[in-house]
Amino acid sequence: MGYEVTTPIFYVNAAPHLGHAYSTIVADVLARHRRQRGDDVFFLTGTDEHGEPVANVAAERGITPQELVDENAPKFAAMREPLESSSDYFVRTSDERHKAAVQELLTRVKDNGHVYEDDYEGWYCPKCADFKTDSEIGEGNTCPIHGIDLLRERERNWFFRLSAFQEPLERLFAERPDWVVPAVRRNEALAFIKGGLQDVSLSRAAISWGVPVPWDPEHVFYVWWDALLNYRTALAFGREGEDLTDSHWPPVHVIGKDILKFHAIYWPALLMAAGIEVPRRLLVGGFLLVDGAKMSKSRGNVLDPFAAVEAFGADAVRFYLLREVAFGSDGSVSIDGLRARYETELANDLGNLASRSLAMVRRYRDGRIPDVAVDAEIADAFAGLPDTVTTMLDEGRISQALDEIWQRVRRLNRYVEERAPWTLAKAEKDAPDDTAALDTVLRTLTEGVRSVAVLLHPWLPASTVRLLEALDAPSLVWDDALPGGGPVTTVGDLPPLFPKDRGVDDGAAGRGADAG
Ligand code: MSP
Repeated sequence: MGYEVTTPIFYVNAAPHLGHAYSTIVADVLARHRRQRGDDVFFLTGTDEHGEPVANVAAERGITPQELVDENAPKFAAMREPLESSSDYFVRTSDERHKAAVQELLTRVKDNGHVYEDDYEGWYCPKCADFKTDSEIGEGNTCPIHGIDLLRERERNWFFRLSAFQEPLERLFAERPDWVVPAVRRNEALAFIKGGLQDVSLSRAAISWGVPVPWDPEHVFYVWWDALLNYRTALAFGREGEDLTDSHWPPVHVIGKDILKFHAIYWPALLMAAGIEVPRRLLVGGFLLVDGAKMSKSRGNVLDPFAAVEAFGADAVRFYLLREVAFGSDGSVSIDGLRARYETELANDLGNLASRSLAMVRRYRDGRIPDVAVDAEIADAFAGLPDTVTTMLDEGRISQALDEIWQRVRRLNRYVEERAPWTLAKAEKDAPDDTAALDTVLRTLTEGVRSVAVLLHPWLPASTVRLLEALDAPSLVWDDALPGGGPVTTVGDLPPLFPKDRGVDDGAAGRGADAG
């Protein structure tokens, strides 16, 4: 089955920080999981390059906007490799193919009768690129998100008839109660709709850095329409020699809560106006906080994803963010927190379990995994787990899915202590023919470890592959995830998955490495 998953496309006028990396990691977990289930995944990310903040910075620096975005977009593209992101395409909204498709799609919306010309007057935040409605205006006409003064804008614009989609949107939310998750975000979007929708600008006349409106070339399209449409346009050119538009639509979007209105209201309305099916689901994340405040360039409290990965490895950073911050909620992150989870959970819980399990097979059975059944106690403890994880991931309960798996990691650690294989090995010395008990324990442990490695792969892509290679059982196929489904092999060497000497260099992982 075709499956498209996306991150928001990033504004290019800042350097990437861990808050951006977070959406990428969440989307990557879903992409990897779906590939394990055999889907034909198209995982899309990229940069949002139009709009006046870019034009303003370029003007200040005396370069063209195109030169500026060409300089900055690669910084976001470069985040993919260190994060082990498996994205399939990096879309840039200054791409001519995207621009042509935006023109075609928005002309269709106009041809369908949803566009008209009128004068606009109202409050606008240049940082959000958002025309604020009355309920979204802070004290003294400021932006509640950025705290800056809103601008009073007056211009002749093309408008999108958003108000006409009030009822269709209410119906969408009623018929598909979980199309926006978590529920708190769904309710927020629905309340906004119920408050009454006003028409919104489709074009801007005062700006020239954007996609020209074909029927009125003095205008460019309002940057949010151009940006949202990336999710659609890139399907046509994101995979060499193939057009995925029909096979992969509708998509699943991972977004942050600050861009909910655009994705949960404007976007489905625009798609309805163009006669295109609305997205499959919106998964809305909260904010990563540092000392209680949103991590952001303007606050100067950003953590540099490149330095964190350098210090602890991609797997640890991915794991930490998704384990520490329940997806959908806000949560504080820090390098100390990362180090603590690295040591207690990755190195001790998982790393030790894996290394001691393999070491015992080598010591007691010359590396050959005994060809016996898995202990029923552990089989029971894992029963139904892959299905539970699948459901949770589909529903955006990403941290809960990880927790379900981690409980089994802990269960396996308890199993080692309860069965004490070293005692069984001593007993075998006195009764060499009686190997059944230790055989079962060793097979159960290696299968348990293999199972959690397959299940954890989306979160820990590099270390799980190393572990599965050491078990000589490299398959990531989801259907084989349960203990008992793996081959009887000879195990190889496994250097520590999470060495204890990592992340000692505080400086490398400290704040402010982002000069942005
Ligand atoms: N360009 C728009 C998105 C257009 S999508 C059609 C945009 N870009 S952004 O670069 O400002 O933000 C990209 C994403 O990063 C947003 O989803 C935002 O919520 C997320 N984050 C930025 N800082 C964040 C944190 N501190 N924590 C978690 N995510 C945050 O918005």
